[in-house]
Amino acid sequence: MCGIFAYCSYLQEKDRKTICEILCNGLARQEYRGYDSAGIGIDGDKPGEMFFFKEVGKVAGLRKKIAESDVDTTKTFLSQVSIAHTRWATHGPPSIANCHPLKSDPKAEFTVVHNGIVTNAAALRLVLQKRGYKFESDTDTEAVAILTKYIYDSQPDKRMNFTELIKTVLKELEGSFAFVFKSSHYPNEVVTARRGSPLLIGVKTEKKLKVDFVDVEFAGPEEATSTLPPASSAGGLLAPPSGPSLLRTQSRAFMSEDGMPQPIEFFVASDAAAIIEHTKRVLYLEDDDIAHIAEGELHIHRLRRNEDGQAPQAQHRTIETLEIELAEIMKGKFDHFMQKEIYEQPESVVNTMRGRVNFDEHRITLGGLRAYLNIIRRGRRIVFCACGTSYHSAIATRAIFEELTEIPVSVELASDFLDRKTPIFRDDVCVFVSQSGETADTILALRYCLERGALCVGVVNTVGSTISRETHCGVHINAGPEIGVASTKAYTSQYIALLMMALQLSEDRISLTERRNQIIDGLHKLPGQIKKVLEGDKGLQELATGVLANQRSLLLMGRGYQYATCLEGALKIKEISYMHSEGILAGELKHGPLALIDENMPVIIVMTQDSLYPKVQSAYAQITARKAQPIVVCNEDDDAIPKGCKTIRVPRTVDCLQGILNIIPLQLLSYHLAVRNGFDVDFPRNLAKSVTTE
Ligand code: F6R
Repeated sequence: MCGIFAYCSYLQEKDRKTICEILCNGLARQEYRGYDSAGIGIDGDKPGEMFFFKEVGKVAGLRKKIAESDVDTTKTFLSQVSIAHTRWATHGPPSIANCHPLKSDPKAEFTVVHNGIVTNAAALRLVLQKRGYKFESDTDTEAVAILTKYIYDSQPDKRMNFTELIKTVLKELEGSFAFVFKSSHYPNEVVTARRGSPLLIGVKTEKKLKVDFVDVEFAGPEEATSTLPPASSAGGLLAPPSGPSLLRTQSRAFMSEDGMPQPIEFFVASDAAAIIEHTKRVLYLEDDDIAHIAEGELHIHRLRRNEDGQAPQAQHRTIETLEIELAEIMKGKFDHFMQKEIYEQPESVVNTMRGRVNFDEHRITLGGLRAYLNIIRRGRRIVFCACGTSYHSAIATRAIFEELTEIPVSVELASDFLDRKTPIFRDDVCVFVSQSGETADTILALRYCLERGALCVGVVNTVGSTISRETHCGVHINAGPEIGVASTKAYTSQYIALLMMALQLSEDRISLTERRNQIIDGLHKLPGQIKKVLEGDKGLQELATGVLANQRSLLLMGRGYQYATCLEGALKIKEISYMHSEGILAGELKHGPLALIDENMPVIIVMTQDSLYPKVQSAYAQITARKAQPIVVCNEDDDAIPKGCKTIRVPRTVDCLQGILNIIPLQLLSYHLAVRNGFDVDFPRNLAKSVTTE
């Protein structure tokens, strides 16, 4: 999805070159969210004027365009606000016209950057066109910019402040969004708001801040309803609004200890990765928060009141300290983030287990679940809900969950779960697995389960994300920032986090002590074994540039624990090397897929030694009888593999952990296939890291 960024600086001289650099860096750090076009909007030479730079493609192209332009880059500003956007097209193809920031009119009275989808944009566009407003793009966002101007123009006395104006605009919108608005009518101010898309604000000052939280300001009673008729109603004519007024409660200015206004910078972004190089002090906005930044102050307002019509009491947004380091979001010595993240796995799995696994006492302690363990144990069933790779991690651990907890487990793709309106009850335990914590389908499934009274557990990588905040309890997988669009280290960490959860839930079952101890010993050895797998990288590169080069299709088959490995391996291969690949449950071969097999069909069969080994051997015999020449993923000490067969050897571990070691060669293989074919590994076509729309 798109990445948005805004930079606001007060009482601090900044030249235009520096401002453009800060904006482009903020976009580059979020490029994984969308990379089909990028744009920035900065203050022009005269008051109220804005300069825009837009380019189709990556941020590098935008930088070039800025460098080649003839704007005066030495011009300085004592205070300024500027906005930026990297796009993943939803409404309209990638083009300069569709590139953000979008403006309300040729003079750019209102400009907007947006992540999300405004679902009633077509209706708004019709209404506004009827009123004579001209559109230049195919985007839903432009309707928002023009609606803002319309509402502003409709005020007889122009008395609304910027926050009130945007509040009125937001009430007309349906769908999901994170916005930043800038306007020539409100110089050096921005208003930013979210509903369903992530948004955070970094705060940087030289002197220590006097506060570590910001109060939420609630509107007065007269403001409770929208001032406009629904824009989407038949032929709906927007009525001029009467300006709602805000009842200000205590607000906290960002002043230094001595109470004097101080130089201050604010960074608004979709992702902490864009902020970390400037400051670690951030606030996460919540749905329906509207933040107003002006004159070096930040104020947070709410779009809606409580369901009972009351303003909530004493709410605030804490200024938190980010725990990621800049080095974690840089590529370092690696060519691609994906490669770096594959190689990080010996450490990332340790981080997932750190402080949670006591290897001597064979005990697991997941602090985030402690208070809920008994409720989970008493649950009638466990429902995992996720998308893509996160879904595969749930498939990979379902069997061990069922074995250790003896609770029935179902695994649901979030989109399908919602399409089916799956029955959910108060005694269900629903587990939402997500790297980003911002995947729209998973969030909607979470809210669906919350409404039905189920206990909702999050298994999330991104601290502060929507899923981690909206679930009752959960586990952070602590894999560190994952930037490559293809998920790798998050998969192995999710796998371990889910496994630890099953282990802890079963700690009261004495009969399973030996099994649990065996798994915990296996976890202890895992980081060293992952290192060993990574040593086989060269052989995988040879496969990618040898027998698998120029192939159009690849089947991956296995069963039991290794079915998930095949699904995940196939997903990695298709998403970055664009080669058709399919994960097949070996037990299903005879029910159809066997028809695909002949001497020309490339196959990888996962045949590591667990209780299903004889059955996979039988699948191997069936496909080789049809002249397939499979590449076999097998244990390093397995001498039963026929001579002459191409193998990918991995160390042996406990059955339920073997999938962690088996997926790594497939991650590397997909990486080398993509590199060999000259594809942009970190930015696969048509995909974005965080899918924040349905
Ligand atoms: C595949 C991939 C996607 C994500 C899916 C869910 O490599 O990255 O399939 O796994 O979009 O994303 P999260 O885990 O952020 O909910």
